[in-house]
Amino acid sequence: MTMLLRGGTVIDGTGAPRRTADVRVDGERIVAIDADLPTAGAAVIDASGCIVAPGFIDVHTHDDRIVLAQPQMLPKISQGVTTVVVGNCGISLAPLRRAHVPPPLNLLGGSDGYIYATMREYAEAVGRAMPAVNVAALVGHSTLRVATMDDPYRVATASEQAAMVTLLREGLATGAIGMSSGVFYDTGAAADVDELAMLAAVVGAAGGVYTTHIRDEFDKVIDSLDEAFATARRGAVSVVISHHKCAGPANWGRTRQTLAHIDAARAQQPIGLDCYPYIAGSTVLRTDLVDGVIDVVVTWSEPHPEMSARHLADIAAKWGCTQQEACLRLQPGGACYFQMREDDVQRVLAYPPTMIGSDGLPHDQHPHPRLWGTFPRVLGHYSRDLGLFPLETAVRKMTGSSARQFRLADRGELRPGAYADITVFDPVSVQDAATFEQPSVAARGIRCVLVNGVVAYRDGCAESTRAGRFLSSQT
Ligand code: ZN
Ligand code: CU
Repeated sequence: MTMLLRGGTVIDGTGAPRRTADVRVDGERIVAIDADLPTAGAAVIDASGCIVAPGFIDVHTHDDRIVLAQPQMLPKISQGVTTVVVGNCGISLAPLRRAHVPPPLNLLGGSDGYIYATMREYAEAVGRAMPAVNVAALVGHSTLRVATMDDPYRVATASEQAAMVTLLREGLATGAIGMSSGVFYDTGAAADVDELAMLAAVVGAAGGVYTTHIRDEFDKVIDSLDEAFATARRGAVSVVISHHKCAGPANWGRTRQTLAHIDAARAQQPIGLDCYPYIAGSTVLRTDLVDGVIDVVVTWSEPHPEMSARHLADIAAKWGCTQQEACLRLQPGGACYFQMREDDVQRVLAYPPTMIGSDGLPHDQHPHPRLWGTFPRVLGHYSRDLGLFPLETAVRKMTGSSARQFRLADRGELRPGAYADITVFDPVSVQDAATFEQPSVAARGIRCVLVNGVVAYRDGCAESTRAGRFLSSQT
């Protein structure tokens, strides 16, 4: 099918200045971008007054299971996202077949979804589900450990490490674009740099990328960054620091120091980073993240589902106990932690190499608003309203930079020959609508979204045709 997006302003994802041009799509690819292209034989989409941009790439997601369970992917397609990178923070749904998994693996919608023994089986399931968005997969280090060790809370033996390598190789051969680790979490924390570097080298040899939720985003953030850099250097692989932050009041303001540190290291080795545009983080309920000072809002609780959306301080007051005690009683569960400060968030967002990743948690009962709001919030609130950077930069941080870093060929840029993953949005009205109180609300201003040349979302509604696919770094 031939389509013509007519009369829009093209921002191509490279950071180049905008220009007025039509975009012609034939089948799954862009075939021409120029002023006043002929309309003959094409279905015309009126883009006048709108920005025509590459579809957004959400480089940090936990969408492994939701792309199968709810393939219409409304939280993402409604933001203009056309590709999600799944398997972050050491947690991937594959390769692992297990009836019951420990936290934080239960982040992916409970502990019973792990039914794919290999990445091949998972990729085939994505193919069958045909989600609205493309899926690029990372192999999770914690998933590898849980799959190969009877006890993931200790150092792996040589034979367990060999078993991890076998599973990792299978994942990469299937098209996984790299490996993630989450040494912050118990299931990954027992791994030392030797284990991580050995696995990172397998990823490097396959041309993949290594992403990491570092060991400590609080007082020891610099040491933890250094561990990630050392791992990647020894593995000869490029590294992405996930959701970079300086967490906890004692560390507020320290992104000046961490960004300077990252900048210096970037002169020695390839390093990327991502972040989401909010001062609250979100993960499973953990007492070490509850300090009695910062605000904590419960996003889900298995024993107390009635407490989701409530503040931990209020729950503790109601129960007549400490916040730590309330946290324990609510487990297993999740929460939003207001652990960052606005100037740090803005500094990380504005740092030129930073990419945008939502880190949304789609299975949470009362999710962090980043799930539905991340990309329009960067475009509307941070770029347009606060003027933190031009729109061309905002778009590059969610398209061109991301595709290059994660080696997604022919995506993330608008040019003839590229896949027709395209988002048309109104620069005046684009805005996140999801809040901490009302988190599951579609953003405003996203007019039309194409995935592989097929209209997936238009004027507030998902289309019934879905055209997303399992991507590998080659396709
Ligand atoms: Zn993480
Ligand atoms: Cu994450």
